[in-house]
Amino acid sequence: MAVSLILETTAYTLDQLLAVPEAQIALAGRSNVGKSSLINALAGRKKLAKVSATPGKTRSVNFYKVEPQNFYLVDLPGYGYARASHEERRKWAKLLEHYLTDCKTLKTLALLLDCRLPPQKIDLELASFARTCRLPLLPVLTKADKCSQRERSSRQKEWQDLLAVKPVLTSSSSRLGMEELWRALIAAADI
Ligand code: GTP
Ligand code: MG
Repeated sequence: MAVSLILETTAYTLDQLLAVPEAQIALAGRSNVGKSSLINALAGRKKLAKVSATPGKTRSVNFYKVEPQNFYLVDLPGYGYARASHEERRKWAKLLEHYLTDCKTLKTLALLLDCRLPPQKIDLELASFARTCRLPLLPVLTKADKCSQRERSSRQKEWQDLLAVKPVLTSSSSRLGMEELWRALIAAADI
């Protein structure tokens, strides 16, 4: 697909987040689920977004412009990061909550879920919060390369039953699902 992705801007405050006039799709998920890696895989580049084996790598909110469709993919810091301080976690939860509630140009929440793990409470909580904000959800299973075929389909089915949307199965390492994900993202941004 002839789509390009460039790092446009980095936001640290809520005002900066809410000031973006173009359509946005936010990538949210637990720390280390593979949000930044997925941005790189979508871009077909290795070092666009910073990736790390240590959770808590992405600390600011990074906006990646999608051309020529003219919308943003927003790489959010991960939640559920065990080593973050209580204060840090509280601040982050508040920012996320405001962003999801108040950002008028936010079209969809892409919720990244580790294919290896059974549904986690923290992810279900975010999904239900998005629902209360009437924000459409795009569930994305990550790291599918680490799972057997059997595990992949049972995980997909499990999430589909919980969210009433079938997750896109992806792997940033093998590039599984990238075309399908691009199509889903472009469609979601256009609503
Ligand atoms: P935070 O910024 O801390 O919230 O993490 P993140 O969600 O951005 O995760 P990141 O992309 O930094 O990846 C975390 C780790 O998972 C890194 O070691 C990646 O190499 C690895 N990883 C990410 N995606 C995949 C994948 O599809 N397959 C495999 N095998 N490993 C992956
Ligand atoms: Mg990251």
